[in-house]
Amino acid sequence: MSKENIAPDKMDKIVSLAKRRGYVYPGSEIYGGLANSWDYGPLGVELKNNIKQLWWKRFVQQRPDMVGIDAALVMNPKVWEASGHVATFSDPLIEDTVTHERYRLDHLLEEAGVDVVGMDLDKMAAKVKELNLKSPKGNVLGDPKKFNLMLKTFLGPAEEAANVAYFRPETAQAMFVQFKNVQTTSRKQIPFGIAQQGKAFRNEITPGNFVFRTREFEQMEIEYFIPVPKQDSDWNDVFESWKEEMIKWMRDDLQLDMTQVHELEVPAEDRAHYSKRTLDFEYDFPFGRKELYGLAYRGDFDLQNHIKASGQDLSYVDPQTNEKYVPHVIEPTWGVDRSFLAVLVDHYKEEAIESDGGDSKRVWLSLPPKLAPYKAAIFPLLKNKPELVEKARGIFAELSKHFMVAWDDRGNVGKRYYSQDEIGTPFGITVDFDTLEDDTVTVRDRDTAQQVRINIDDLVNYISTRL
Ligand code: GAP
Repeated sequence: MSKENIAPDKMDKIVSLAKRRGYVYPGSEIYGGLANSWDYGPLGVELKNNIKQLWWKRFVQQRPDMVGIDAALVMNPKVWEASGHVATFSDPLIEDTVTHERYRLDHLLEEAGVDVVGMDLDKMAAKVKELNLKSPKGNVLGDPKKFNLMLKTFLGPAEEAANVAYFRPETAQAMFVQFKNVQTTSRKQIPFGIAQQGKAFRNEITPGNFVFRTREFEQMEIEYFIPVPKQDSDWNDVFESWKEEMIKWMRDDLQLDMTQVHELEVPAEDRAHYSKRTLDFEYDFPFGRKELYGLAYRGDFDLQNHIKASGQDLSYVDPQTNEKYVPHVIEPTWGVDRSFLAVLVDHYKEEAIESDGGDSKRVWLSLPPKLAPYKAAIFPLLKNKPELVEKARGIFAELSKHFMVAWDDRGNVGKRYYSQDEIGTPFGITVDFDTLEDDTVTVRDRDTAQQVRINIDDLVNYISTRL
């Protein structure tokens, strides 16, 4: 069941905090913006990098059966012909005949209570007639069309058909196209996987909901190559193990409230024809339950298509049995921006301040310390006491060799705590007059507000063990 509008104002609060504190700004803002484009600010880039680094650590660094690549954003257009994207990577589009605004037809039908699962364009068109469906502005709708989502460009100075190219709509294809190079140079034996993080582009008809659906976004994808299955359990067991890995990622690395995460087995009618099983992980965003990640069994569809289209041999020879075969593939896929958004939504916390008679609120991000943009903030108690400032600068210099740390000498310590809580900094370190005597500082914990006195020499260790 969809939990629509769980907290209608929660998104507004998050978007506002994101802008105010430097997580995410509207793109090209001084020119009036560019619809649905967003720029990650100083804190946003840290959180996003931390998400990507944790993912790389979990799925590449710590696994002997994984290697990474970083491929070009624009590939030979033949890649997208072979992969089926030129022919079929499209959404159903319908136009308001008066305003000429364009809408996703499947979304309009869903909003009208129609179950669109398994419906092709003709069936959707018939439904529009049957229901006498109007546009959201109340106008007559035109004929539905398929709209290809790939973002086109031209390579070189001549804007002609021969020079058409596409920005990649997924990172996945590079892992298929480079399968042979990666396998032979890394000498990995099947089963093994290739991972990639990077930008993907889709000319979405209706982007929206902050960074949830944009035309330019980042993916983290894995193509995991397995032997040709002899029975369903051969691929399904690997599928199940990747499902568990994805759950561990959400639970242990992003530390999401797992009651907000749901598994959706995508019905056969809605799956790509080559996929025998697709599972979506959905998350209860404030604007409804929506796809966060996906997991699909792609068979040998992609490699076989690239073999046919390129004329190259992309098969694998088992060094033990000498058996030659085209491997099958399990594909877990993650959106970076959706991870970022789920983390903000999940860790956004508000609490009435009792001492204020409950009138004012404390807002904080309970980010897992590993994800927090700053691991600690350094506060000299008084900014006009040079000895305190100097001591605090020394601590900043030392800690910043190990972690991202913030410096704040404005206002009083209470305000600085509040300000750091709001961006999710796990530790606040205050340098006071006792520090000058005994080299200890006060370390305050973001979540419990408890304070402990720690020796300066123990700070790196104290923070490291809590990351
Ligand atoms: N290679 C398979 C693939 O690309 P997908 O479900 O189309 O599958 C994978 O995309 C993930 O990429 C999604 O689960 C989502 O997290 C993210 N994603 C897709 N389209 C997006 C968009 N327009 N904006 C932000 N993230 C998007």
